[in-house]
Amino acid sequence: MLVLGIESSCDETAAAVVADGERILSSVVASQVLTHERYGGVVPELASREHLKKIVPVVDEACREAGVSLTDVDAVAVTEGPGLIGSLLVGLVYGKALAIALSKPLVGVNHLEGHIHAVLLENKTARRAGKPVEEARFPALALVVSGGHTCLFRVEIRVSADSGSPVFSYALLGQTRDDAAGEGFDKVAKLLALGYPGGPIIDRLARFGNPDAVEFGRIRMKGNPLDFSFSGLKTAVLYRVRGTSLASEAEERRAWRKTVARATADEIRAHCSQATLDIVASFQRAVITDLVERTLAAAATLGVQSIFVSGGVACNSLLRERFAELASVRGLQVLFPSPALSTDNAAMIAAAGYYKLAAGERADSALTARAAFPLGTEKS
Ligand code: KG4
Ligand code: ZN
Repeated sequence: MLVLGIESSCDETAAAVVADGERILSSVVASQVLTHERYGGVVPELASREHLKKIVPVVDEACREAGVSLTDVDAVAVTEGPGLIGSLLVGLVYGKALAIALSKPLVGVNHLEGHIHAVLLENKTARRAGKPVEEARFPALALVVSGGHTCLFRVEIRVSADSGSPVFSYALLGQTRDDAAGEGFDKVAKLLALGYPGGPIIDRLARFGNPDAVEFGRIRMKGNPLDFSFSGLKTAVLYRVRGTSLASEAEERRAWRKTVARATADEIRAHCSQATLDIVASFQRAVITDLVERTLAAAATLGVQSIFVSGGVACNSLLRERFAELASVRGLQVLFPSPALSTDNAAMIAAAGYYKLAAGERADSALTARAAFPLGTEKS
């Protein structure tokens, strides 16, 4: 079954063709980084306009790269939510219109479910390529960590008695009460005038700083210990910077950034003092320690066999290192998508949509975008 996936929930316009939920024939992502860079964050209205410009060429390119025409596609899977409403609507309406015009089945996919399926898609791709990768184990604990989300889910799989196809179920165990982890990276990078998006640049710069230089302390959560909170950490960075030489250095960097079209990580590093690199490394370590330790504590409590880590922050090198180290000590399987499948893409939407379609799910003309769209049941 060839599924055309469409994703437009935030600032990437993406389309992909995936065969049988596991073979990526194409995955095209048009990034809007250049549009939002100067604002240090996504501007919703600009994002919607960019999606409008890109949606048709991106879908065309996905078909061309896959060597198929739209009429060869068996079904359309489109992100239904959560996300920016204006952005979601562009992909959703286009996907719906295509399905109607082509008389093909349509299914709506939760963006977070897509991120979880990116892990399974990667696992299948690697195994098919003959890499020595173990098959994903269930039940699993999924950490979805991006610019918009930081959530922990328990993921189970069963085979449907009716269709004989796998059906996935999700239980939300915890989520951020304020900023998402990626948002924390982006806001700290904005504060220090390091560039946008903040995660990749902080990841690069942190290698040159001392993570022990600033002690931010552990993030303590009242109530659900599997919830997250990163806004306090961001404020702690602000207090360390405000009124100090770090603030004037950031202003100088901001002025310099305006004079150059693009700056490489090495050029940005050359404009950073050791004290700035130290604060960046300490901040990154505090975020990553919290994500890894909270997730491993949840894994121990729930007795899961496997941890899936996905979303843009799953690209972080320290996060990957720490998870790999600690999970192997505890005999847990830990799986990540490749960087291209970690950040927003449509292959993950096509893969998640495939299982829904195989289980007989179909969206009708009432399908609409949902800015808030919880995944799974909530467990306290
Ligand atoms: O999944 P994604 O592409 O979009 C959302 O659904 O939000 O994630 C983007 C987020 C941004 O906040 C970005 O700063 C962060 O992922 N990110 C990283 C890294 N690469 C991307 N954060 C930390 N380290 C990275 N290497
Ligand atoms: Zn995402």
